[in-house]
Amino acid sequence: MLGVWCLMILSIDTSCDETAAAVVLGRRVFSNVIYSQVLLHKKWGGVVPSIAKRAHEERIDFVINATIKKNLSQKNLFTSKLASPPQSAGSVAIRSSSQSEGSLHRSLAQTATRFINFFDYIDAIAVTVGPGLAPALEVGIKKAKELAEKFNKKIISVNHLEGHIYSPFVQNSKGNPKIDFHFPYLVLTVSGGHTSLVIFEDHLKYKVIGETIDDAAGEALDKAAKLLGLGYPGGPVIERLAKEVDNRDFYHFPRPMVSSDNLNFSFSGLKTSFYYFLKKMNEKEKIKKIRELSSSFQQAVFETLIIKMEKAIKKTGIKNLALVGGVSANLYLRKLFRNLAKKYNGQVLFPSFKYLCGDNAAMIGVVASFKAQKNLFVSDIKNLDRMPRMSL
Ligand code: KG4
Ligand code: ZN
Repeated sequence: MLGVWCLMILSIDTSCDETAAAVVLGRRVFSNVIYSQVLLHKKWGGVVPSIAKRAHEERIDFVINATIKKNLSQKNLFTSKLASPPQSAGSVAIRSSSQSEGSLHRSLAQTATRFINFFDYIDAIAVTVGPGLAPALEVGIKKAKELAEKFNKKIISVNHLEGHIYSPFVQNSKGNPKIDFHFPYLVLTVSGGHTSLVIFEDHLKYKVIGETIDDAAGEALDKAAKLLGLGYPGGPVIERLAKEVDNRDFYHFPRPMVSSDNLNFSFSGLKTSFYYFLKKMNEKEKIKKIRELSSSFQQAVFETLIIKMEKAIKKTGIKNLALVGGVSANLYLRKLFRNLAKKYNGQVLFPSFKYLCGDNAAMIGVVASFKAQKNLFVSDIKNLDRMPRMSL
């Protein structure tokens, strides 16, 4: 069996509204391209599955080509792979780095011959199979199958949530940050689609101890932002407005399910109470108090997360914490997590680079490296299918 550090993996993620591809070797990322669809979905106030599917279809070849091109121009691929490269690899491939940006738009089929040597270096193709939007996932899976068949590669299927969980351990091409694994971790994933509390017990071993029973934390922030007329995605703009009033809590919106004994979350009631609260205000008042409203809503969401996290620390005794997913980009939430870890003499990890907070294929490739080490390749590629509600 090949060691995990010898496998060069091309990874693909199309689970939601980012078309993403990366090339990784073990935990090291050699190239990473993310094509965000956020502007397409903005006017609808959220992700529209049919629009996401079409956009993924239009962009996937471009994204994969750009990922390959980045690799080739950096020459990382050739210098870093432990196995020695085939003789002819460099010359054909590197020629492509002098091509104009426009030429990348050519379909993958057309350019495949020029990149054929690139695929000599790729040992496997990793793809996200769930959870996510079914029409969106389908595009990545179809492309992975197509490439696997064409270049005779194995496929590694990856759970998107595993990708987020591994995001603090993803390294750049130089192998930084040099952080080691000290299991177990308590990991809170907070994104637009997910809120889950997981014990990361060992490589590829997880125990879910809490989940949202309705909306995700990021979704709640997005919905609140929509009600305030702040556009999509809501998290970053709410963060900015809240900071302007020192993240204070003015209105004391409810902290859902904090007194219940379990570790589950629920944010739809909070959103409803916010909706009725706003209904009592006229537009002028709303605009005048936009910072106070944003800050108070954010505080209600974050305090709920912290209360549940503290409960989880007490229940499990685990003090190694990690906060991952789109909402982990929030600096105020990071501060609250640092304070919590300090209180228990623990430590907290965040995605190792900012781009790893949101959706990307690099984290998918890193999970795939660990799966490859355990020989977890897809045995029946033909029947590989999307799993929109896949759990850990
Ligand atoms: O992980 P992600 O990019 O996509 C999903 O898998 O959902 O997360 C997107 C979510 C959105 O709800 C967005 O509002 C939220 O992450 N988000 C933030 C911040 N940046 C993105 N929430 C709070 N503060 C931020 N700075
Ligand atoms: Zn995600």
